[in-house]
Amino acid sequence: MTLERTFVAIKPDGVQRGLIAEILGRFETKGFKLVGLKQLTPSKELAEKHYGVHKDRPFFSGLVDFITSGPVIAMVWEGDGVIASARKLIGATKPLEAEPGTIRGDLAVNIGRNVIHGSDGSDTADFEINLWFQENELVDWTPSDQEWRVE
Ligand code: RTP
Ligand code: MG
Repeated sequence: MTLERTFVAIKPDGVQRGLIAEILGRFETKGFKLVGLKQLTPSKELAEKHYGVHKDRPFFSGLVDFITSGPVIAMVWEGDGVIASARKLIGATKPLEAEPGTIRGDLAVNIGRNVIHGSDGSDTADFEINLWFQENELVDWTPSDQEWRVE
């Protein structure tokens, strides 16, 4: 078992379209554990750091404008293999190429409005969790049905 944490955010389009419960539910019903959750409108500085790896790409300024345009739901989810699993639940970056059953495959059509972000690896997850959350905003807890979630 590889116990991991990953950073997931519902982007402004997901919030504006009323998809918070739908998206949160995908992770909750899968069996992952929510250890951090907050709503905020990201500052430009936060957005530029978050998407820093894309700073030289032509879509960077539009992406930063979009992600700072309204509230996002920032989350940290914990579980066995949650980093890769979250990316599978989320689906391909281009929603038209995302499989039905995935969040983007079911809920989006446009690459620039693809409703959700998820960390793409272990180093990115650590970086993004530290960027978006203070240590005291993360909650360690044991679900009462824990024994049914893991072997
Ligand atoms: P994210 O970081 O938001 O979870 O998305 P991702 O890993 O699936 O995709 P990534 O390559 O990291 O791209 C970040 C976001 O930039 C927008 N994008 N636009 N117009 C374009 O060609 C283009 N390419 C990427 C998307 O909104 C993507 O989610
Ligand atoms: Mg990415």
